[in-house]
Amino acid sequence: MPEGSALAREAAERFAQAVEGAVAARNQAFVALSGGSTPKQMGSILAREPYRSRIPWDQVHVFWGDERWAPLGSPESNAGEAKRGFLDLVPIPPENVHPWDTGMDRPEQAAAFYEESLRNVFDKPIGVPQFDLVLLGMGDDGHTASLFPHTRALAEEDRLAVANYVPKLDAERLTLTVPVLNAAREVLFLVAGPGKAKTLAAVLEGPEDPEHLPAQLIRPERGALTWLVDEDAAASLDARVR
Ligand code: 6PG
Repeated sequence: MPEGSALAREAAERFAQAVEGAVAARNQAFVALSGGSTPKQMGSILAREPYRSRIPWDQVHVFWGDERWAPLGSPESNAGEAKRGFLDLVPIPPENVHPWDTGMDRPEQAAAFYEESLRNVFDKPIGVPQFDLVLLGMGDDGHTASLFPHTRALAEEDRLAVANYVPKLDAERLTLTVPVLNAAREVLFLVAGPGKAKTLAAVLEGPEDPEHLPAQLIRPERGALTWLVDEDAAASLDARVR
């Protein structure tokens, strides 16, 4: 009996295919991970066979779409959790793993530094780098990455990475911006659980209101957009699309 939810297994397979496609076409693959429970399960699937051997890890670069202002060792850290849960268990070169540097003095510095690393690793001094795969979750308030409703980062058009203070959490977050997410070749949302049902229906079928539902901002310009959702999260969608 394979472990992990069907959603996580599908995500793992799509991760492998996106990496294989990118490596075949361009010799390397650039992926952005998200926090959340489904990516965690996906990671533990990727750390085991057949994926552990199938994925050309030395040609994969891993970034994170968002991060909490917490040290890598904290269970709050998206990158820390992914490292402990799977990246430390697969043969990916350490220099291909690019966590946000939350050891800096201020979140704004960490964001500026992340932007610089993106430019260096993608070898893209100007313009917007193109991820091969961006994994995203959706919060039950409609946030994605750390683009929370009514926060400043939603309107960012120039920066690739920003610090985003979230008043309702009274917390600093770090996030890639809408232009970077929408430049990806493939964006994959992973949404599970009954708590997401109403918001998912509002995001996909409700009126446009991205200030209130930031997940609506994600519309890759040329890439593919896929919503992988489980039955519980899909429960409020119009029956015709289910
Ligand atoms: C974070 C995430 C965030 C997450 C959603 C959904 O660090 O908070 O990156 O955007 O993906 O909150 O999380 P779940 O899938 O666990 O509900």
